[in-house]
Amino acid sequence: MAGLRSLARGVTVALCIAVALIHAAGAKDPASKIPKPEPRKSCRPSLGLILQKPISPAQLPVERPPAWPACGLRCAAESSLAHQNNGGMAMRLVHRPIPKVNSSMLTWWFNGFDGTPGIEGDMAHPANGRTYPRYLVWHPTDHLEQFTATPGPTPGNATGAVWGIVEFFGTRGARGHVRGDAPCAWAGDFYTNTRLRVQRVDANGLAMAFEVAGGRKAMQLEHRWHDSPEGLRLTSVMQVGFTPDGALAAAANAVVKRAFGGRHPERAGRIWIEHAATEFSNLQYFLPRLYEQEAAAHARMAASK
Ligand SMILES: *[C@@H]1O[C@H](CO)[C@@H](O)[C@H](O)[C@H]1NC(C)=O
Ligand SMILES: *[C@@H]1O[C@H](CO)[C@@H](O)[C@H](O)[C@H]1NC(C)=O
Repeated sequence: MAGLRSLARGVTVALCIAVALIHAAGAKDPASKIPKPEPRKSCRPSLGLILQKPISPAQLPVERPPAWPACGLRCAAESSLAHQNNGGMAMRLVHRPIPKVNSSMLTWWFNGFDGTPGIEGDMAHPANGRTYPRYLVWHPTDHLEQFTATPGPTPGNATGAVWGIVEFFGTRGARGHVRGDAPCAWAGDFYTNTRLRVQRVDANGLAMAFEVAGGRKAMQLEHRWHDSPEGLRLTSVMQVGFTPDGALAAAANAVVKRAFGGRHPERAGRIWIEHAATEFSNLQYFLPRLYEQEAAAHARMAASK
């Protein structure tokens, strides 16, 4: 009996956590009460709809920047996906060294300077000279939008900020989805439309997490980098699910995994690995020059004060 009661209690708490997760996913934005999915009779059901906001057609860009050379798993030195005893799942990706990119550039990319943005600004594309959001240039086929929902306490340092991150991963089709594409064309792709708290950005890495009540982390993503003669050395780790052991975590982790990858969390995990390998490799094509321009402008600004 006692066993049954504690099991019942465990399930109740797990359900509460699930509900808290759903609320956390939509917190702060009054318009975000998990909208009903659009009617898509002939579409595959959208994945990851439970805890994340669905992508709305208005979030798709009008135009996408030119693509970079294809990369994917060829840009990974090593990668793995592990299922954990408590139902969690972890992906680990060691990137091939990224030529011409260094740690100062990455730290700036995520932090910006005090007064001027990094990743959240616009830039002239080196291939066609047109101006695009930098986030779209970073991954021309998958990305939609990244923005600071709540800034961190220190200007020019994203530590403590909450970021909104909206992207597909593993977009099917070569060109990426744009405004006006029929929902059937994109509704079945894996995506993220969520808010992550930045745990830390420093000279060696970036850590972010999806936090629920009490600061518990349902999902964590960490990039660690260092300089080398071959280029930036980078390892990315994503933890899907809470890390403690036990029946409670296992029950909650089933929900978290579903939120991450719908009915195919492992496939979502493998697609994420390819997405991340491509994304970071793309930096070599535009970040060094962009960083030099922005660092020079920042130095001029500081000198004229
Ligand atoms: C990275 O490269 C830039 C020049 O593009 C340089 O100013 C900066 O000092 C370099 N950072 C490191 C850590 O080597
Ligand atoms: C940002 O702030 C955090 C917390 O104070 C600190 O640990 C980190 O080194 C800072 N990052 C940079 C790039 O200065």
